[in-house]
Amino acid sequence: MTTFYINPVNLIQTLTMALDLAVDGVSLHQKRTAIICSHLSERLGLRIDVEHDLLSAALIHDIGAASSTEERRKLADPSMEWSKEAIFVHAEKGYQLLVNSDTFLEIAEAIRYHHDNWDGGNPSGLAGQDIPLIARVIHLADRIDVNTRKTGPILHNCERVQSLIKAGSGRSFDPELVDVFLDCSAKESFWLDLTAPDRASTFNSKMKMGITPLSIYDMLHVAEIFATIIDRMSRFTATHSRSVSGVAVFLAKWNGFSQNELHLMRIAGLLHDLGKLSIPNAILEKPGPLTRDEQLIVRQHTYYTYIILDQIEQLSPVAQWAAWHHETLDGQGYPFRLNEAALSLGARIMAVADIFVALAENRPYRKKLPQESIQRIMSAMVKENKISGRIVQTLFDNFSEANLVVQTMEAMTQPTLDPVSA
Ligand SMILES: [Fe+2]
Ligand SMILES: [Fe+2]
Ligand SMILES: [Fe+2]
Repeated sequence: MTTFYINPVNLIQTLTMALDLAVDGVSLHQKRTAIICSHLSERLGLRIDVEHDLLSAALIHDIGAASSTEERRKLADPSMEWSKEAIFVHAEKGYQLLVNSDTFLEIAEAIRYHHDNWDGGNPSGLAGQDIPLIARVIHLADRIDVNTRKTGPILHNCERVQSLIKAGSGRSFDPELVDVFLDCSAKESFWLDLTAPDRASTFNSKMKMGITPLSIYDMLHVAEIFATIIDRMSRFTATHSRSVSGVAVFLAKWNGFSQNELHLMRIAGLLHDLGKLSIPNAILEKPGPLTRDEQLIVRQHTYYTYIILDQIEQLSPVAQWAAWHHETLDGQGYPFRLNEAALSLGARIMAVADIFVALAENRPYRKKLPQESIQRIMSAMVKENKISGRIVQTLFDNFSEANLVVQTMEAMTQPTLDPVSA
């Protein structure tokens, strides 16, 4: 079993970047929430392990809303009036996503209750001290960040936000935590840290502590969670990441990859469309052809996949295998316009797997294609020097096995899944 010496907090920091991708208003919200949590935790004198859980949970606290760009936007908008139940929906979804993972189990509960009000009336039935401390701290930090205006000098915000939070003391928020906030937000650096999240003084040093090795199986589980989030963005691609992953692993196996490389290929396949989190659901769900402007928005997704995964050094070469799936051998692909000389076997395999799966599954604008059509389209792409003829041949030689992967994954989709609000 391969062990990756990945600091889970670093991994979470990387993943929070994925969750904050290019969505107006919510960008960096989770990181700023975590910075506020780190100030509160310092004043509270939390134990180091509790603080780690707090910061990790804060960094991905809105993970349950990740599949919906609209919901993410609303969560960061202070003018949004939430109905009593609606605000809790993403908190419960976040819990459900994480609760089966060893890596995130500790923080799943905190995420579940991060909108619970101190004075009760929550779906959880909890109130006061019964709400886990980490959830109470995140709730407060989240509202501080959401109500802090992101334009203009940040120090102009202090008094307004302080009195707003004070008004919620004992109702929305734990009164002791509100006092802690009022105390530590007296210093200017509390606010200025939010304007420079990558340099925030106390936060960054805390993030570097505590290396707990993650095994490849832990990493696979994390990749599965993110594949679920990506695939829930559209009911038409509800199993796309898993299918691409399955087909890519088959192709890699037939091309002599080692067991360890096959694990990495599985992870790369699950995460190849990670950058899709930057694309509005309305574009992914559009039932007709995309406009030129919409196509350009779609084109950004592999760039984001690359910059997110490239940060996890230990996962090399996953970033390349995952993110180069729209590059073509003739150098006309995107976003790096790499050519034959630069594209590794793993990247070529992913490109073939992605095209095959896309043709073999239903799309908003057409039904899945039959074998002859798939073979005709892919052969033409080989002729145009877009994709590898050798890999395509391997695929054709094992067509039914590859097709079975897609059909099996599709059959596993829960019919009740509501992708946009999921
Ligand atoms: Fe939230
Ligand atoms: Fe939030
Ligand atoms: Fe893609």
